[in-house]
Amino acid sequence: MEPKTILSPSDMSALRDEWEHDGARVAFVPTMGALHQGHLALVERAKTLADRVVVSIFVNPIQFGPNEDFEKYPRTLKSDLELLSPLGADAVFLPNATSMYPKGFQTYVTNRGMANDLDGASRPGHFDGVLTVVLKLFNLVRPHAAIFGKKDYQQWRLIMAMAHDLALRVEVLGHDTIREEDGLAMSSRNRYLSADERKIGLRLSQGLFAARSAVKAAKDKATVETAMVAFRTMVGSGAELKMDYVEVRRQADLTPFAATNDAPAVMLVAGRVGATRLIDNLEFE
Ligand code: PAF
Repeated sequence: MEPKTILSPSDMSALRDEWEHDGARVAFVPTMGALHQGHLALVERAKTLADRVVVSIFVNPIQFGPNEDFEKYPRTLKSDLELLSPLGADAVFLPNATSMYPKGFQTYVTNRGMANDLDGASRPGHFDGVLTVVLKLFNLVRPHAAIFGKKDYQQWRLIMAMAHDLALRVEVLGHDTIREEDGLAMSSRNRYLSADERKIGLRLSQGLFAARSAVKAAKDKATVETAMVAFRTMVGSGAELKMDYVEVRRQADLTPFAATNDAPAVMLVAGRVGATRLIDNLEFE
């Protein structure tokens, strides 16, 4: 069955009220569209968790900086709906910017900790925009569970922190990154890459996998240093690939991985290939 398309926040709320009445469990996959297999995997996971699944498609203007790609962000609604159609989502929520941010809108969510680091350092205000829209979407959809791709690892951890800090009644789940056959992490922005740029971008995932197999498990400072060296050797840096950061952090709160620390670690990288910013990460066991 085709999913219902819901255009306005009030219609989304009303549908959710109906489901409340039926006692349905609801899972939610927020997206900005330009769907790929990574998103579809989130929807499939959502189907296993709930009686009703909502997917939102909204290119959220407030999470883009003034010189970022909001205008040219791919908008592919027709093919998004075709891709969703066989998956059995119950509703696709397609609000517009005016309904989400009507005149007079003035309240934002700010994380004063890990949002200022990594991607937040390069994209000031980005995570305020993400957290604000996600909280508003949560309030409209009122999901029991929401699923996010771990490719946007910092985003996922920030949303978990928001849910915890603000006592939201939603379980925030992360889903493993889905990769192209050659290892490139799937992203809506990959379509910006020329064939040559794509080859260069591939070095990020190759570097991550090389680093992980060099150390198997990040257990102490020395193994982490080895991982960083393996990564940098594999990736190189120069005009064609401008690395933004290469970091090993604790998985739970993204604080720096310390010498005596045996908490699980994640290696996070970001770099720019031409005009396209790519991010990727890999958890250590
Ligand atoms: O990851 C995304 O696609 C977006 O940041 C999200 C979570 C849908 C908020 O706009």
